[in-house]
Amino acid sequence: MVDKIKVEDLSCYYGKKCVLESLNISVVQNEILSIIGPSNSGKTTFLRTLNRMSDLDSIYSRRGDVYLDSASVFDMDMEELRKRIGMLFAMPISFPMSIYENIVYAPKRLGLIFKKSEQDALVEQSLKDAFLWNEVKDRLKSSAMKMSGGQQQRLCIARILAINPEVILFDEPCSGLDPISTARVEESMVELKRKYTIVLVTNNVKQASRVSDRTAFFLMGKIIEIDTTDKLFVSPKKKQTEDYITGRFG
Ligand SMILES: Nc1ncnc2c1ncn2[C@@H]1O[C@H](COP(=O)(O)OP(=O)(O)O)[C@@H](O)[C@H]1O
Ligand SMILES: [Mg+2]
Repeated sequence: MVDKIKVEDLSCYYGKKCVLESLNISVVQNEILSIIGPSNSGKTTFLRTLNRMSDLDSIYSRRGDVYLDSASVFDMDMEELRKRIGMLFAMPISFPMSIYENIVYAPKRLGLIFKKSEQDALVEQSLKDAFLWNEVKDRLKSSAMKMSGGQQQRLCIARILAINPEVILFDEPCSGLDPISTARVEESMVELKRKYTIVLVTNNVKQASRVSDRTAFFLMGKIIEIDTTDKLFVSPKKKQTEDYITGRFG
């Protein structure tokens, strides 16, 4: 087992308020690590710290370190970091352009592809990997905004895959989706871990139990428990974990 990401003694603050306290956690290469926990536990702050999305927020600060392979992300060139760690948010945000253009937009801007034939191949491969190709292959030039919510979320996955990252961060990717769309997104996540390392923040404990290899339970800025998903759900060691996963929380 190789650690893809290693978080060492990480604390995060908004102003003086500490929202993540001395976290130590690793993400193993090609695993899906789920993070569960009630609102305001620091889950989003954690994800946004991994690819430095919060760096521009003036009241945000942190100490500790995060390594991607063996290099600190805080020393890394921002553009390189964003290429290596992609992030998907709760609400799919398709650009108001065609399905095709949604996918080639970032790779073109980053100078990763030039030729039309390369673009075509990238669009096809990314859509296939996101389990969307069959549904849209005949209307690549039509607007992405006309797709269903579930399709748009998979389009956003395809868009991330098109820049060929190493790690993908999902922040409650299915919170606005119906069960069928959710199942499709889960299917693609399970498939994606062959090539990528995935951190999935989910407000749906059943989703964590369905798709992830390991699960971490966050509560008020601390990791209460982390274990293989089977163990955490079948025999949690902490009462707080048990209360949360059985819905008795609060
Ligand atoms: N940009 C921000 N500015 C100030 N406080 C924030 C900001 N983002 C989150 N917080 C606070 O940090 C804590 C953790 O939030 P968050 O990381 O969003 O948790 P979660 O994703 O688990 O709901 C909460 O108390 C929240 O109010
Ligand atoms: Mg959140």
